[in-house]
Amino acid sequence: MSDRAVAIVGATGAVGLTMRSVLEESDFPLGSLRLLASERSAGTVVDTSWGEVEVEDLATADPTGIDIALFSAGGDRSRAHAPRFAQAGAVVIDNSSAFRMDPTVPLVVAGVNDAEAKRHQGIIANPNCTTMTLMMAAGPLHRAAGLRSMIATSYQSVSGSGHQGVVELIEQTDRLRPDLDSLMTGGWVDPLPSLYARPIGFNVLPFAGSETEQGYTDEEWKLVNESRKILDIPDLLVEPTCVRVPVLVGHGVAATLRFERPLGADEARAILASATGVQVWQDRVPTPLDSAGIDDVLVGRIRPTIGEPGGINLWVVGDNLRKGAALNAVQIAELLV
Ligand SMILES: NC(=O)c1ccc[n+]([C@@H]2O[C@H](COP(=O)([O-])OP(=O)(O)OC[C@H]3O[C@@H](n4cnc5c(N)ncnc54)[C@H](OP(=O)(O)O)[C@@H]3O)[C@@H](O)[C@H]2O)c1
Repeated sequence: MSDRAVAIVGATGAVGLTMRSVLEESDFPLGSLRLLASERSAGTVVDTSWGEVEVEDLATADPTGIDIALFSAGGDRSRAHAPRFAQAGAVVIDNSSAFRMDPTVPLVVAGVNDAEAKRHQGIIANPNCTTMTLMMAAGPLHRAAGLRSMIATSYQSVSGSGHQGVVELIEQTDRLRPDLDSLMTGGWVDPLPSLYARPIGFNVLPFAGSETEQGYTDEEWKLVNESRKILDIPDLLVEPTCVRVPVLVGHGVAATLRFERPLGADEARAILASATGVQVWQDRVPTPLDSAGIDDVLVGRIRPTIGEPGGINLWVVGDNLRKGAALNAVQIAELLV
């Protein structure tokens, strides 16, 4: 197997930096690495496991010779540059939402629908980080019992909004901390959010993403449409609510899953315990802090449904920068080689 020339596009961002770490930790046959970002970062020299690499300006970079391009620089950059990278011979694995719902582009959760990757025509899409986490639990259960519907509420960390989300949470927490009384009895001074609609410091925002159709956010529609595509269930019933929480890394989802045939909690536990990339926690409740920095998603609180028996209630949490983005992209690259 020959070593591959890999490029990370968006290499200076939250996901791009994690892609580099994941590649450094993996056995991926990487022969050479190129790092690309905006003109703001171009010229910066980065020390990597493959030697010093100078960050290039995506706008002017020549993609010739790249085998695999891991894109994570936002949808506009993907739309503008992914096709020219693919035309130059690279397989693009794209983290943005630009191509996810394109019927000619596979949408792949490694470990759930690997075979899809093989039908690519130059671009493969990485799902949204919340959908990815939920699919790691829903996929194996669907194969066993035929998923019919999901009611899913996400608890999404601020790093899901990129580096700026982390900055906003820390700044707001610092600004609000000196007057904790006001946070408990009223009279707090608005920390003037710039990224989010309402304060995220010491708070919960039941509105992740931006509003689109019928009052749902784009994050909520991603959960609906991407789940249907990944599991190949066009009529899957999904009721989504996406919530932003003051957590740095790790997206959790509380979900009610109903199936074509009744599924018991013990059977669900056994199925998930044998699924690749999943850990079932029974004695400790898995939290975002437990998921940060690890590859597996953690599933806990597996319970039978109460109102309409035969379904499963569960909690799944995963590192949004790793399995939710960078790790899955590298795993797709591994499927290709
Ligand atoms: N964060 C997550 O959990 C997550 C999960 C799944 C998917 N994603 C997707 O991954 C992408 C990146 O997310 P992120 O969280 O890493 O964001 P981020 O921390 O804000 O990083 C953005 C990256 O894009 C680059 N970039 C911005 N404008 C550019 C331009 N005009 N030309 C070239 N490069 C440009 C930035 O380079 P400079 O440093 O030079 O500005 C930086 O490397 C987004 O599409 C996001 O939706 C994120």
